[in-house]
Amino acid sequence: MKPLKYVLALFTLIICLHCKQNPATPTGTVTENAMVVSARQEASEIGSKIMKEGGNAFDAMIGTQLALAVAYPRAGNISGGGFMVYRQADGTIGSLDFREKAPKSAQKDMYLDSLDNVIPNMSTLGAASIGVPGSVAGIIEVHKKFGKLPLKQIFELVIALAENGVEVTAKQAEILKNYREVFIKVNSDSTKFAQVYKEGDKITYPNLAKTLRAIAEHGRDGFYKGEVAKKLANFIQANGGFITEDDLASYEAIWRTPVVFQYKDLNIISMGPPSSGGVTMNQIFEMIEPYNIASFGHNSDKAIQLFTEASRRAYADRNYFLGDPDFVDIPTSFLLNNNYLANRMADFSWKKATKSEAIAHGKLEIIESMETTHYSIVDQEGNAVSVTTTLNGNFGSKLYCDELGFFLNNEMDDFSAKAGVPNMFGLVGAEANSIEPEKRMLSSMTPTIVEKDGQLWMVVGTPGGSTIITAVAQTILNGYEFNMSMQDAVNAPRFHHQWLPDVVIFEPNGFSSSLKEKLKSKGYIINEERTPIIGKVDAIRVLSDGRLEGGADPRGDDSAIGF
Ligand code: GLY
Repeated sequence: MKPLKYVLALFTLIICLHCKQNPATPTGTVTENAMVVSARQEASEIGSKIMKEGGNAFDAMIGTQLALAVAYPRAGNISGGGFMVYRQADGTIGSLDFREKAPKSAQKDMYLDSLDNVIPNMSTLGAASIGVPGSVAGIIEVHKKFGKLPLKQIFELVIALAENGVEVTAKQAEILKNYREVFIKVNSDSTKFAQVYKEGDKITYPNLAKTLRAIAEHGRDGFYKGEVAKKLANFIQANGGFITEDDLASYEAIWRTPVVFQYKDLNIISMGPPSSGGVTMNQIFEMIEPYNIASFGHNSDKAIQLFTEASRRAYADRNYFLGDPDFVDIPTSFLLNNNYLANRMADFSWKKATKSEAIAHGKLEIIESMETTHYSIVDQEGNAVSVTTTLNGNFGSKLYCDELGFFLNNEMDDFSAKAGVPNMFGLVGAEANSIEPEKRMLSSMTPTIVEKDGQLWMVVGTPGGSTIITAVAQTILNGYEFNMSMQDAVNAPRFHHQWLPDVVIFEPNGFSSSLKEKLKSKGYIINEERTPIIGKVDAIRVLSDGRLEGGADPRGDDSAIGF
């Protein structure tokens, strides 16, 4: 090494060591006791209020989930699904799977025509794309196991929000305008969302309030049985969908063991299958751990190269091996074996990009979207909850049940309709994620909790379809390796690679042309036309004095509220 290079490397190493010993000064909202970070102020407010009234993080989870269904209908929901990872104050961890599942009548080739081609839009738009919703079963299960406040007390806050209405933000007005035509196409022009909404308008949801009252009164039966279930099943079938009252009545949320792994001195707790988040992130971290990524510099060409090559290999495995663990044998210990992962990176070279086709085949277009939503909660006792929930696409299937007051998911598209054909996120699936009756579709949702030195350190997650896993991993690295505050770690520009298509996507700002040219010269294919925002991370960091720093993503209307 030349003397100047040696001095620079030593200097970087000293800075890195210094950083690890001196945690970043917070730049986001800081509270003393408790906090909720979510996609909407109204939802964070309700979650925080519940904890102020003596509720715990789990009560706040229920309130936040429901409030997002009112205030953030593009992804918040009672008619979608999701995953929760939790860590109680005493260190007990666990996770809940309230992912949607295929109806009992589902078949492997249900989205294929007589020539075996995927029927355009059938798994994404309208009633045929709907999976059996899991969110209400999820919140009721959470309340049964951990709830402190009466369910009705929590619901009343959200029912009031639905009845009094929610103000349309500028970003929301824009998105409602963009989707208006498709709402009319799927629902007719008499639907609530056929109206034009401007920034500052108030939207009230009296019919959703009625549905919420039925759930508050009857628990899960208020949604999965009786009047609401009958109306819902009839509505879906009248619109050409497959879900029956029997499908609704037999839905169950499932408590699952989370994926837990070490990265240096962090202990990372994340969601296992049917989410691919935990396993894929574990693989990425294991593959980059032998390198001192901090010494390369944040978003430097070397850091991007290393992360991209690890992601390329991890996503190739994701798409082939992962699916619903109740239906397929997932070779988890093989996929997470240190020797296997070291071998996987054996052909990585700093000089030249690995080609994805050298790992497997495939050709496709990527279409990213910002569907799904995540919220992070820490309460005054130290319980932490990380939840990612979704309708899949923005406003799910776009089918809005006016009588019950909510959009229906289009989660069936997360199955692989035909092996080798990409879904709406450009993810190419395999047999493990093929459609079967009552099977859960593979997800990328990655609600995560991180411990440092045995203590709660970070609660993190994001929307973003297939980009969720890399966005969560980069946020953790930003905080840990690059010593950023929670807010800065969330704000930092992100990039993404998912094996296929073999392209690196960069966010619009923060990556220079010279950096991209350098990567191109090594054979990386850079998607210059598409520079979407990647994820909307909502996270909380526990500071060394026990206070909480929120990281609410400025890419959306996200907000950190607590006390
Ligand atoms: N629907 C997006 C996901 O589950 O990953």
